[in-house]
Amino acid sequence: MAQSPHEVQIGTTESDPSVFITVTANGPYIVHGTPPLHLQTITPDATGHSWTYEQGRAFAVKDGTALCRCGHSKNKPYCDGSHRHAPVDLSETASFDPLLQHSTEIDGPMVALTDNERYCAFARFCDSGEQIWKEVTIQGRSHADAAIRMAHHCPSGRLLVWDLQTKQPLEQPMPVALGLIEDPQQGCSGPLALQGGIRVVSASGRSYEVRNRQTLCRCGASSNKPFCDGSHASIKFNDGL
Ligand code: FES
Repeated sequence: MAQSPHEVQIGTTESDPSVFITVTANGPYIVHGTPPLHLQTITPDATGHSWTYEQGRAFAVKDGTALCRCGHSKNKPYCDGSHRHAPVDLSETASFDPLLQHSTEIDGPMVALTDNERYCAFARFCDSGEQIWKEVTIQGRSHADAAIRMAHHCPSGRLLVWDLQTKQPLEQPMPVALGLIEDPQQGCSGPLALQGGIRVVSASGRSYEVRNRQTLCRCGASSNKPFCDGSHASIKFNDGL
Protein backbone atom coordinates (compact mmCIF):
# COMPACT_ATOMS: atom_id res chain seq x y z
CA MET A 1 0.00 0.00 0.00
CA ALA A 2 1.33 3.47 -0.85
CA GLN A 3 2.48 5.45 2.13
CA SER A 4 0.40 8.48 3.08
CA PRO A 5 2.16 11.71 2.02
CA HIS A 6 1.27 13.29 5.37
CA GLU A 7 1.50 12.28 9.00
CA VAL A 8 -1.41 10.35 10.53
CA GLN A 9 -1.40 9.95 14.29
CA ILE A 10 -1.25 6.40 15.62
CA GLY A 11 -4.80 5.28 16.50
CA THR A 12 -6.39 7.58 13.88
CA THR A 13 -8.04 6.41 10.69
CA GLU A 14 -7.99 9.17 8.13
CA SER A 15 -11.38 10.23 6.75
CA ASP A 16 -12.40 9.79 3.14
CA PRO A 17 -9.72 11.94 1.43
CA SER A 18 -12.40 14.03 -0.30
CA VAL A 19 -13.21 15.50 3.14
CA PHE A 20 -10.58 17.96 4.35
CA ILE A 21 -10.25 21.57 5.45
CA THR A 22 -7.96 24.21 4.06
CA VAL A 23 -6.86 27.26 6.00
CA THR A 24 -6.68 30.37 3.86
CA ALA A 25 -4.12 33.10 4.51
CA ASN A 26 -5.80 35.69 6.76
CA GLY A 27 -9.20 34.32 5.76
CA PRO A 28 -11.70 31.56 6.47
CA TYR A 29 -11.55 27.79 6.59
CA ILE A 30 -12.70 26.16 3.37
CA VAL A 31 -14.54 22.87 3.83
CA HIS A 32 -13.97 20.25 1.13
CA GLY A 33 -16.53 17.50 0.81
CA THR A 34 -19.80 17.67 2.71
CA PRO A 35 -19.22 16.62 6.32
CA PRO A 36 -22.17 17.23 8.67
CA LEU A 37 -21.96 20.41 10.78
CA HIS A 38 -23.95 20.82 14.00
CA LEU A 39 -23.93 22.82 17.19
CA GLN A 40 -22.15 20.72 19.81
CA THR A 41 -22.92 21.86 23.34
CA ILE A 42 -20.81 20.82 26.31
CA THR A 43 -23.26 19.42 28.85
CA PRO A 44 -22.36 18.97 32.52
CA ASP A 45 -23.33 16.24 34.97
CA ALA A 46 -25.20 16.93 38.21
CA THR A 47 -21.98 18.13 39.85
CA GLY A 48 -21.29 20.69 37.11
CA HIS A 49 -18.38 18.83 35.47
CA SER A 50 -18.27 18.46 31.67
CA TRP A 51 -19.83 15.09 30.91
CA THR A 52 -21.19 14.80 27.38
CA TYR A 53 -22.15 16.74 24.25
CA GLU A 54 -25.62 17.59 23.11
CA GLN A 55 -25.97 17.82 19.37
CA GLY A 56 -27.99 20.84 18.24
CA ARG A 57 -29.09 22.50 15.06
CA ALA A 58 -27.54 21.51 11.74
CA PHE A 59 -25.88 23.95 9.34
CA ALA A 60 -25.64 23.45 5.60
CA VAL A 61 -22.23 22.60 4.19
CA LYS A 62 -21.45 22.44 0.49
CA ASP A 63 -18.13 21.59 -1.09
CA GLY A 64 -16.25 24.91 -0.78
CA THR A 65 -18.22 26.37 2.15
CA ALA A 66 -16.20 29.09 3.93
CA LEU A 67 -16.35 29.07 7.74
CA CYS A 68 -15.33 32.12 9.76
CA ARG A 69 -12.09 31.85 11.73
CA CYS A 70 -11.64 35.51 12.65
CA GLY A 71 -14.63 35.70 14.99
CA HIS A 72 -16.04 38.81 13.29
CA SER A 73 -18.51 37.49 10.72
CA LYS A 74 -22.08 38.68 11.14
CA ASN A 75 -23.26 35.47 9.52
CA LYS A 76 -21.51 32.86 11.68
CA PRO A 77 -20.59 30.13 11.30
CA TYR A 78 -20.02 31.25 7.73
CA CYS A 79 -17.50 33.82 6.54
CA ASP A 80 -19.03 37.10 5.31
CA GLY A 81 -15.78 38.83 4.33
CA SER A 82 -15.47 40.76 7.62
CA HIS A 83 -11.96 39.36 8.14
CA ARG A 84 -10.70 41.86 5.56
CA HIS A 85 -11.27 44.69 8.03
CA ALA A 86 -11.08 42.81 11.33
CA PRO A 87 -8.35 43.85 13.78
CA VAL A 88 -6.99 40.32 14.09
CA ASP A 89 -3.87 38.56 12.86
CA LEU A 90 -4.81 35.13 11.51
CA SER A 91 -1.24 33.99 10.78
CA GLU A 92 -0.69 30.31 11.45
CA THR A 93 1.67 29.70 14.36
CA ALA A 94 1.18 25.97 15.05
CA SER A 95 3.93 23.44 14.55
CA PHE A 96 3.72 20.75 11.89
CA ASP A 97 5.39 18.31 14.28
CA PRO A 98 3.30 15.33 15.41
CA LEU A 99 1.60 16.10 18.74
CA LEU A 100 3.28 13.19 20.47
CA GLN A 101 6.68 14.69 19.76
CA HIS A 102 5.95 17.38 22.35
CA SER A 103 3.70 15.43 24.72
CA THR A 104 4.46 14.49 28.30
CA GLU A 105 3.75 10.94 29.47
CA ILE A 106 2.42 9.48 32.69
CA ASP A 107 2.54 5.70 33.11
CA GLY A 108 -0.02 4.13 35.44
CA PRO A 109 -0.61 0.51 36.48
CA MET A 110 -2.98 -0.27 33.56
CA VAL A 111 -2.84 2.63 31.12
CA ALA A 112 -0.57 5.50 30.17
CA LEU A 113 -1.50 9.08 29.36
CA THR A 114 0.14 11.41 26.86
CA ASP A 115 -0.63 15.10 27.02
CA ASN A 116 0.23 18.05 24.81
CA GLU A 117 -1.01 21.09 26.72
CA ARG A 118 -0.50 23.44 23.80
CA TYR A 119 -3.67 22.06 22.22
CA CYS A 120 -6.00 22.50 25.19
CA ALA A 121 -9.47 23.63 24.09
CA PHE A 122 -10.63 24.11 27.69
CA ALA A 123 -13.59 21.74 27.39
CA ARG A 124 -12.77 20.31 30.84
CA PHE A 125 -13.71 16.67 30.22
CA CYS A 126 -10.36 15.87 31.88
CA ASP A 127 -11.88 16.74 35.26
CA SER A 128 -14.99 14.87 36.33
CA GLY A 129 -14.32 15.44 40.02
CA GLU A 130 -11.13 13.41 39.81
CA GLN A 131 -8.66 14.58 37.19
CA ILE A 132 -7.37 12.37 34.39
CA TRP A 133 -3.73 12.82 35.44
CA LYS A 134 -4.60 11.21 38.78
CA GLU A 135 -7.01 8.56 37.44
CA VAL A 136 -4.33 6.98 35.24
CA THR A 137 -2.10 6.44 38.27
CA ILE A 138 -4.71 4.58 40.39
CA GLN A 139 -4.96 0.79 40.25
CA GLY A 140 -8.33 -0.58 39.13
CA ARG A 141 -10.43 -1.03 36.00
CA SER A 142 -12.88 1.74 36.92
CA HIS A 143 -10.09 4.32 37.12
CA ALA A 144 -8.60 3.24 33.79
CA ASP A 145 -12.06 3.36 32.19
CA ALA A 146 -12.70 6.82 33.61
CA ALA A 147 -9.44 8.05 32.07
CA ILE A 148 -10.30 6.47 28.70
CA ARG A 149 -13.70 8.16 28.74
CA MET A 150 -12.27 11.57 29.60
CA ALA A 151 -9.62 11.40 26.88
CA HIS A 152 -12.18 10.28 24.30
CA HIS A 153 -14.32 13.34 25.06
CA CYS A 154 -11.36 15.75 24.88
CA PRO A 155 -12.27 17.48 21.58
CA SER A 156 -8.77 18.76 20.79
CA GLY A 157 -6.93 15.45 21.03
CA ARG A 158 -4.55 16.94 23.60
CA LEU A 159 -5.03 13.79 25.70
CA LEU A 160 -4.50 10.21 24.59
CA VAL A 161 -4.80 7.15 26.82
CA TRP A 162 -2.72 4.11 25.89
CA ASP A 163 -2.98 0.39 26.60
CA LEU A 164 0.27 -0.52 28.34
CA GLN A 165 0.15 -4.08 27.00
CA THR A 166 -0.43 -3.37 23.32
CA LYS A 167 1.26 0.08 23.31
CA GLN A 168 -1.67 1.35 21.24
CA PRO A 169 -3.91 4.35 21.98
CA LEU A 170 -7.34 3.39 23.29
CA GLU A 171 -9.23 5.32 20.65
CA GLN A 172 -12.74 4.53 19.50
CA PRO A 173 -13.43 5.12 15.81
CA MET A 174 -15.38 8.34 15.32
CA PRO A 175 -17.70 9.25 12.45
CA VAL A 176 -16.59 12.17 10.31
CA ALA A 177 -18.23 15.32 11.65
CA LEU A 178 -17.75 19.02 12.34
CA GLY A 179 -19.05 20.61 15.53
CA LEU A 180 -19.52 24.23 16.60
CA ILE A 181 -18.70 23.97 20.28
CA GLU A 182 -20.85 25.91 22.71
CA ASP A 183 -19.97 26.13 26.39
CA PRO A 184 -22.87 27.53 28.43
CA GLN A 185 -21.10 26.71 31.70
CA GLN A 186 -18.38 29.19 30.79
CA GLY A 187 -20.79 31.54 29.02
CA CYS A 188 -18.93 31.35 25.72
CA SER A 189 -18.67 29.67 22.35
CA GLY A 190 -15.72 27.47 21.51
CA PRO A 191 -13.76 26.13 18.57
CA LEU A 192 -14.69 24.17 15.47
CA ALA A 193 -14.37 20.51 16.43
CA LEU A 194 -13.18 18.07 13.77
CA GLN A 195 -13.68 14.41 14.41
CA GLY A 196 -12.90 11.29 12.45
CA GLY A 197 -9.47 11.97 10.98
CA ILE A 198 -10.19 15.07 8.89
CA ARG A 199 -7.02 16.47 7.32
CA VAL A 200 -6.23 20.17 7.85
CA VAL A 201 -4.14 21.86 5.17
CA SER A 202 -2.22 25.00 5.99
CA ALA A 203 -2.36 28.08 3.75
CA SER A 204 1.19 27.08 2.78
CA GLY A 205 -0.20 23.88 1.22
CA ARG A 206 1.37 21.64 3.83
CA SER A 207 -0.83 19.26 5.82
CA TYR A 208 -0.84 19.11 9.59
CA GLU A 209 -0.77 15.71 11.25
CA VAL A 210 -4.15 14.01 10.78
CA ARG A 211 -5.81 13.21 14.10
CA ASN A 212 -9.06 11.68 15.30
CA ARG A 213 -9.99 14.71 17.40
CA GLN A 214 -8.94 18.26 16.59
CA THR A 215 -10.18 21.75 17.38
CA LEU A 216 -9.72 24.77 15.14
CA CYS A 217 -9.83 28.35 16.45
CA ARG A 218 -12.85 30.36 15.39
CA CYS A 219 -12.53 33.34 17.74
CA GLY A 220 -9.28 34.64 16.21
CA ALA A 221 -7.47 34.82 19.56
CA SER A 222 -5.55 31.53 19.71
CA SER A 223 -1.77 31.72 19.96
CA ASN A 224 -1.56 28.31 18.26
CA LYS A 225 -3.49 28.96 15.02
CA PRO A 226 -5.14 27.34 13.25
CA PHE A 227 -5.70 25.22 16.37
CA CYS A 228 -7.60 26.28 19.48
CA ASP A 229 -5.66 27.05 22.65
CA GLY A 230 -8.67 27.79 24.88
CA SER A 231 -8.46 31.60 24.42
CA HIS A 232 -12.19 31.79 23.54
CA ALA A 233 -12.94 31.28 27.25
CA SER A 234 -10.87 34.25 28.38
CA ILE A 235 -12.23 36.60 25.71
CA LYS A 236 -15.79 35.21 26.15
CA PHE A 237 -16.22 34.60 22.45
CA ASN A 238 -19.89 34.53 21.53
CA ASP A 239 -20.94 33.29 18.11
CA GLY A 240 -24.56 34.33 18.65
CA LEU A 241 -25.84 30.93 17.51
S1 FES B 1 -12.91 34.63 8.42
FE1 FES B 1 -14.15 35.72 7.04
S2 FES B 1 -15.51 36.82 8.31
FE2 FES B 1 -14.28 35.72 9.74
